[in-house]
Amino acid sequence: MHVAEAIASRRSIRAFTAQPVPRAVVEDILTRAARAPSGGNLQPWRVYAVLGAARDELVRCVAEARKRHPMGEPPEYHVYPPRLAEPWRTRRFRVGEAMYALLAIPRDDKAARLEHFARNWEFFGAPVGLIVTIDRSMQQGQWADVGMFLQNVMLLAREHGLHSCAQEAWAVWPGVLRDYLAIPESEMVFCGLALGHADETAPVNALESERAALEEFVTIMEKANGE
Ligand SMILES: Cc1cc2nc3c(=O)[nH]c(=O)nc-3n(C[C@H](O)[C@H](O)[C@H](O)COP(=O)(O)O)c2cc1C
Repeated sequence: MHVAEAIASRRSIRAFTAQPVPRAVVEDILTRAARAPSGGNLQPWRVYAVLGAARDELVRCVAEARKRHPMGEPPEYHVYPPRLAEPWRTRRFRVGEAMYALLAIPRDDKAARLEHFARNWEFFGAPVGLIVTIDRSMQQGQWADVGMFLQNVMLLAREHGLHSCAQEAWAVWPGVLRDYLAIPESEMVFCGLALGHADETAPVNALESERAALEEFVTIMEKANGE
C-alpha cells in the first residue's frame, strides 16, 4: 500500500466489529510506528495496549466510575483551548453536526449525544485499545513527536486492513487509567486509540470530514533568482 493510499483511506472509525486483532499484529504496528522521528530521538511516546479480557475489564472500570463521575474526571491538560476561536470553532462544530446527522441524533437530544460520546470509553467496540501517555516533563515539541508516532500507528493499521480512531475522550479518566494500567504519576494520559475492523454497515462510519483548501493554511513564497 502506498503512503498516499494509507492516508486517503484512513478516517476515524466509530463503530468496530468484534473480530479480534492478533497480539502479533499490534506488536508489529507499534514496532514500526516507533520509527517515527522525534527531536533529539527522545522517542517520548509510551503506550499501554489492552487486548482481550484486559480491554473488557478496563471498559467495565470506566462504566463503574461513570456512576460517580458521569462526564469523567478532570483531565490533566486542556484538550482544546478554553476559548476556541475561529476558524477552529466552526470546524469542530461542523464535524460534530455531520456525525450526529449520520447517527440521526438531533441537537436537542443531549442524552443521546452523551450516550454516543460515551461509546468512546468502550473503544467504539474495537477489540484493541491503546492508551498513550507522555512524561510530564515533556514540552510542546515532544507532544508533536507523539503525534507523529500516532499517525504512523493509524497508517500502519491501514496496511493490515485495520481502522482506528484517536480518542482524546480517554483524557478524562486519568485516575481510572492510572489505577488499572499502573501508570506512574510521572506520566500524563494524552489520549486513547481504538484499533480493529470497521463495521462497514454502521452509518457513522460513512462520515467524511472536511478539510480546508490549501490557500487557507499554506503561504508559499517563491522567487526567481535575482528577484
Ligand atoms: C489526538 C486526537 C484525538 C481525537 N479524539 C477523538 C475522540 O475522543 N473521539 C472521537 O470520536 N474522535 C476523536 N478524534 C477524531 C477527530 O475528530 C477526527 O480526526 C477529525 O474529525 C477528522 O476526521 P477523520 O479522522 O475522519 O479524518 C481525535 C483525533 C485526534 C488526532
